[in-house]
Amino acid sequence: MGRIMAIDYGQKRVGFAVTDELQICAHALETVPVAQAFDFLKDYLNKEKVDVVVIGEAKQLDNTPSESCRCHHPAILSGATRYDQFKKQRTMILPIVLYGNPVLRKTAVEVDLKDEALKGFVNDLFDTMYHAEGVGLAAPQVGKSMRIFVVDSAPYKEIYPDHEPFKGAFINPTITDRFGEDVPFAEGCLSLPKINEDVIRKSDIHITYYDEKGEYHDCDINGILARIIQHEYDHLEGKVFTDNLSQIKKMVLKRQLNDIASGKVHPAYKTKK
Ligand code: CO
Repeated sequence: MGRIMAIDYGQKRVGFAVTDELQICAHALETVPVAQAFDFLKDYLNKEKVDVVVIGEAKQLDNTPSESCRCHHPAILSGATRYDQFKKQRTMILPIVLYGNPVLRKTAVEVDLKDEALKGFVNDLFDTMYHAEGVGLAAPQVGKSMRIFVVDSAPYKEIYPDHEPFKGAFINPTITDRFGEDVPFAEGCLSLPKINEDVIRKSDIHITYYDEKGEYHDCDINGILARIIQHEYDHLEGKVFTDNLSQIKKMVLKRQLNDIASGKVHPAYKTKK
């Protein structure tokens, strides 16, 4: 449920109306000259949240396309096409939740794979991760207690030339086995800015998950990708990477963690306490 915007194209002017959140009543916003319609729409959508846009088509009383459609059809088409492009270009940067926020301590909930909003949310996770220059981001880190994380290991190609970069979403994942060697590696986390510590994890995992296209995977993964996945998977279990450190290390970090929790640390990306 959300706000619906209705756009009605006339020959000279375009009318805009929008409903309230509950879609109980609608109010007319404005009529603007056809040539300014797209800019009006763009400005409005930048300021206000609208979930559905309905673009009208001129019809005659008997429901046949109006003759006058010939004049304003190009306007309808160009408006609709430009709006689609605008939506595609749209990047949604979500604020990243910082250490101290209770959502990072919850066990995340399984996702309904048929949920239509899922694709958009996965895109938002990728946009947010790239904006913050991360290699992984889990839904709880943007305040959603859902079993989803995204990964793009491409930056590790520079450090490990043999590494085959992987980009993808992990939906409803389950790590069913961890095996191989114990490997230490300095980890960081977008929710724990400015902290980097060696964490020992297994070199190999067995995981089942669905990707962003809804395809099921059941596979073994090793190396740096297994590292990133184990870190992100912790977020779905209500854990952060410093939980894996020794008691002494945790004591040393206590002050830094308190500083993050009390809003004293300001990374370059958008955050939320
Ligand atoms: Co993290």
